[in-house]
Amino acid sequence: MWSAVIHRRAALVTTAAAATLVGLGLLALRVVLRTSDAASQAVRLETSGSSPDAATVAAGRAIYRRGEGPSQHPITALLSPGEDPVPAAVVPCAGCHGKGGRGRPEGGVVPADLTPEVLGVPRRTAGDHPGRPAYTPALLKRAITMGLDAGGRPLEPTMPRFQMSLDDLAALVSYLPRLGHEPEPGLTDEDIRVAVVGSPAAQRAARGYFDAVARAGGVYRRSIVVGLDGEPVLAGIGGGSDRTRLVDSDEEIPWLDGAPPREPGTAPERSTFHLFPSAPGLDDATLARAEAMVLVEALRQCGREVTRERLVQALETVHRFDGELGAPLSFSRGRHIGMASPTGSP
Ligand code: HEC
Repeated sequence: MWSAVIHRRAALVTTAAAATLVGLGLLALRVVLRTSDAASQAVRLETSGSSPDAATVAAGRAIYRRGEGPSQHPITALLSPGEDPVPAAVVPCAGCHGKGGRGRPEGGVVPADLTPEVLGVPRRTAGDHPGRPAYTPALLKRAITMGLDAGGRPLEPTMPRFQMSLDDLAALVSYLPRLGHEPEPGLTDEDIRVAVVGSPAAQRAARGYFDAVARAGGVYRRSIVVGLDGEPVLAGIGGGSDRTRLVDSDEEIPWLDGAPPREPGTAPERSTFHLFPSAPGLDDATLARAEAMVLVEALRQCGREVTRERLVQALETVHRFDGELGAPLSFSRGRHIGMASPTGSP
């Protein structure tokens, strides 16, 4: 039955194991609004009940990002009719819609934009993408659990049908209007805060490079400053086991590492980028400077509206970048190791 609603703009396959998305051409329609409209829409989605407390919003954020809430009630996702539901932790909302709600492109597919500027307003029909009224909290709950959009149209089967307790559902829906409006860790109007892990020589080299960038006008008028222990950071550079203590498990921090992946042969984490596949035999300062250079290059690509998610995407487009290591560095979506061999030969 659900297969009947697959439109030709998206032929998608989900597997219970990993929700692998294969498909082309699903359009993310975006309603462009002035900021003041966006703010009032955010309020409109939010205020049909009383304003949620911080703990409720935090619970909603955890469900959105990880598919697990603080309540012990199981949260499950039905990926296709007739199959057994899987834990929502396997297919959390953020995995498809992105941490900021704007959709994480996956094999050419960009799932619906969930920011309040989009959900809070009616959408006109465009081509074969049908229109719908604005969402209310009640209609969001229906979309999440029953897979019907605000106008009652069945959503694409790629959007799983979720089951959770009413409290968890209320928390999740109270969080959605924050999507795209949460401050980015380590980012202020003036500064981009970055963690630097490594020897004193490595620290000096990275700092020296960041200071030179600041003197030359910064990155979109922001200076890059090295975060102190425990301070929130947008990104990090440097290797070693020290790193783990800085990285809280809920966050994927974009990270540049001169050292190779810890387990040779294993896929690097989604947000970590290694300069070399194996120990390069270069001194700490040279490596740290190269890491800093690549980071600054990617930050420049992000523009002023930098987020961690965009930074990861920008790093994945670094192509033949000269980090002064003897050979250029390139990353891509499937390849988070910048050079083929420690000597830099391709
Ligand atoms: C496996 C990928 C995937 C996951 C996981 C997922 N979604 Fe979706 N979602 C989609 C796709 C694709 C669409 C677009 C469906 C369509 O347009 O018919 C969508 C549409 C939606 C819509 C409707 C948007 C609109 O404009 O009508 C809402 C609301 C939504 N998702 C919320 C969520 C929430 C909340 C979660 C987590 C509990 C979640 N989604 C998890 C893929 C996903």
